[in-house]
Amino acid sequence: MNNKVMLVTGSSIGLGNNIIYEAAKSGYDVIINYLTHEKEAFELKNKVEKEFKIKTLCIKCDITKEEDIKNMVNKIVNTYGKIDVLVNNASISKDNEFNLKTKEDFVKVLEVNTIGTFLISRAIGNVMLNQKQGKIINISSNNAIDSYYEYSLDYDASKAAVINLTHNLASHYAPYINVNCICPGWINTSINNEISEEFKKKELNKILLRRFAEPKEITDLVLFLASEKSNYINDSVIKIDGGIKC
Ligand SMILES: NC(=O)c1ccc[n+]([C@@H]2O[C@H](COP(=O)([O-])OP(=O)(O)OC[C@H]3O[C@@H](n4cnc5c(N)ncnc54)[C@H](OP(=O)(O)O)[C@@H]3O)[C@@H](O)[C@H]2O)c1
Repeated sequence: MNNKVMLVTGSSIGLGNNIIYEAAKSGYDVIINYLTHEKEAFELKNKVEKEFKIKTLCIKCDITKEEDIKNMVNKIVNTYGKIDVLVNNASISKDNEFNLKTKEDFVKVLEVNTIGTFLISRAIGNVMLNQKQGKIINISSNNAIDSYYEYSLDYDASKAAVINLTHNLASHYAPYINVNCICPGWINTSINNEISEEFKKKELNKILLRRFAEPKEITDLVLFLASEKSNYINDSVIKIDGGIKC
């Protein structure tokens, strides 16, 4: 046990699920957050509790709903008395052709990816401020920096806003909370199982390492930023994309 408490938003499936597993393996007390994938979230809870002999919380919370966030934060503080690390991982996309994009879909993407990240960071940031310590790690995307796709322009904009949010959060919570942002490129997670071989080949050609990242390669960076080894890294935006040349 390292006696540290980590919440990962959107950790029922995909990268978040991997972050929880690796954090639990490293001795963190972990809090799994889900919205729709309840079965997967509780399977993960059972798995890490059995393998690593830890106690976890598994909480349904829509990060766009302030009442849900309040209940989740209260539950965590009542159970553990503190929160050391927040990983803002929850995210959605509504990929579609330029002329078919709807205002409603664009608003929803911003609501979850940008506003949800702000609401949860503020709620937990205030707990961390009382503790006078904490780390917030935002998961943005390479799409926010130098990969642009018309299909995901709403997602790309929401993730660019997460970078900007990182800088404001870091300033607001200085000098007590380290706030950093990571920008992954393509990762071998379940949402990418459906992309066509043709599109994948085109994308692989843009990546200097000619492969997508394994989830563990991203979780290693998250755990480094969560650890004391990175105490002087603050307000940083870190690309982890194998080197993408568009
Ligand atoms: N995969 C990639 O290639 C890639 C590349 C660059 C960046 N990223 C970033 O990495 C992170 C994880 O990506 P991923 O591929 O693992 O995504 P994913 O498989 O689509 O998982 C998204 C997670 O977010 C949760 N979520 C969605 N809306 C939510 C809400 N309103 N409240 C709470 N939770 C919510 C989902 O919960 P439920 O399923 O339970 O509803 C799910 O656990 C995201 O921030 C993504 O932008 C991914």
